[in-house]
Amino acid sequence: MFSANTYEQRRNELCRKIGKGLILLPGNQNAPNNYPNNAYYFRQDSTFRYYFGLNVPGITGLLDAETGEAALYGDDFTVEDIIWTGPQPTLREMGAEVGVARTFPVGALRERIRKAIALGRRVHYLPPYRGETKLQLADLLGIRTGALHDHKSVDLMLAVAEMREIKSAEEIEALERAFPIGYAMHTTAMRMCRPGVVEREIAGAIEGISKSMGAGVSFPSIVSQHGETLHNLRSDGVLEQGRLLLCDAGGESLEGYCSDHTRTYPVGGRFSERQRAVYEIVLKAHDDVAEAVKPGMMYQRDIHLLSYRILAEGLIGLGLLRGTAEAAVEAGAMTLFMPHGLGHGLGMDVHDCEAFGERSFDFSYIAERAAASGTCIYRSAWKVRPGTVLSDEPGIYFIPALIDKCRAEGLYKGIVNYDALDAWRDFGGIRIEDDLIVTDTGCRMIGGGKHIPITVDELEAVVGK
Ligand code: GLY
Ligand code: MN
Ligand code: MN
Repeated sequence: MFSANTYEQRRNELCRKIGKGLILLPGNQNAPNNYPNNAYYFRQDSTFRYYFGLNVPGITGLLDAETGEAALYGDDFTVEDIIWTGPQPTLREMGAEVGVARTFPVGALRERIRKAIALGRRVHYLPPYRGETKLQLADLLGIRTGALHDHKSVDLMLAVAEMREIKSAEEIEALERAFPIGYAMHTTAMRMCRPGVVEREIAGAIEGISKSMGAGVSFPSIVSQHGETLHNLRSDGVLEQGRLLLCDAGGESLEGYCSDHTRTYPVGGRFSERQRAVYEIVLKAHDDVAEAVKPGMMYQRDIHLLSYRILAEGLIGLGLLRGTAEAAVEAGAMTLFMPHGLGHGLGMDVHDCEAFGERSFDFSYIAERAAASGTCIYRSAWKVRPGTVLSDEPGIYFIPALIDKCRAEGLYKGIVNYDALDAWRDFGGIRIEDDLIVTDTGCRMIGGGKHIPITVDELEAVVGK
């Protein structure tokens, strides 16, 4: 947790940006797994934690954008609760730690919200992503759950994203503290990568590390010899000598900041000629992006397309694409080899602010405002600035179903060499990922000068050892 002053300043800035009405920020509740007292591991809502610092379930924050008044609503633990949980601080005590003097029982929130609505005041809220929060908002606001998205506050979405996206010095330190967790996870996976090991054994070992060193994983670990499947969570394969293993994994620091890295390497530790050739292309795209990124660049136009051009040049060299890299990118042919974005925002969420961003709903009707705001919640119009943190994760994937579909539809004719691709159908996929912080003049990798083994030589020295 940061100082009370940090949270006070953030809340005041948000109130200034919104200007009118109330701002309702629900924290997450415990979500039952298979029966009410057996909940999933608790994960706080990142926006609530950003403004109120508290990492406990069942608390809601409320700000009056006109007066700047902040309040917390939550119920203190009863003796019956404490028998199971042990002694807990009161809401008043927790509020004091984060600079909030006004604390109330949960039951008082409904009346406060209903009174404000009766007075014609707007209640700003973010689009909810959890069932419990949808039910809570529907009850508080008198809006049916299916209509909550229609009344969400676009002003609040953009204001929160603008603030959360630009990391302060203390947040960058927190992100740096998440790096050693990722480092330990990935180097452990590399050492375990030997024939006969089950992918699950590696996933379990590295997820254990994320819990022992921090707050657990920042997303479910992807450990698979089927790297061509972008988010392959099966992990039931038995490692075979010479096949590529893709490991995409990260941890969260205790204060809730994420790491997100990917490495791909051959089981047993020796790259074949073909594997090395594709690996070097992906690594060049990764490195060139990290060289190029600087403030003011547009993510889509300047960064994502740069990675596509470098990958396309490499694929032309392998005889898999024909013509120029520019023409291949222009025709959309690179979406066959890398059907995902080059990166995403990173911070308190591994895909930062995507709880109300890019993948959550259709942006078309706020596209103009999102473009003016330029935040990572709308990547098509995202402009990176000093303090922006983004992943740099190019890849080349050979996805038989996608190759067949594009070929059958006659796409990229004369550009993609489909006949040559026949020999690559069982190659798998390679992705390489690190996390960049945009500085005043360029960017730098998170890691305090240290990096997870990444070159062919570095990997061959550690994999399977
Ligand atoms: N870990 C998922 C991603 O890299 O986007
Ligand atoms: Mn990522
Ligand atoms: Mn990742």
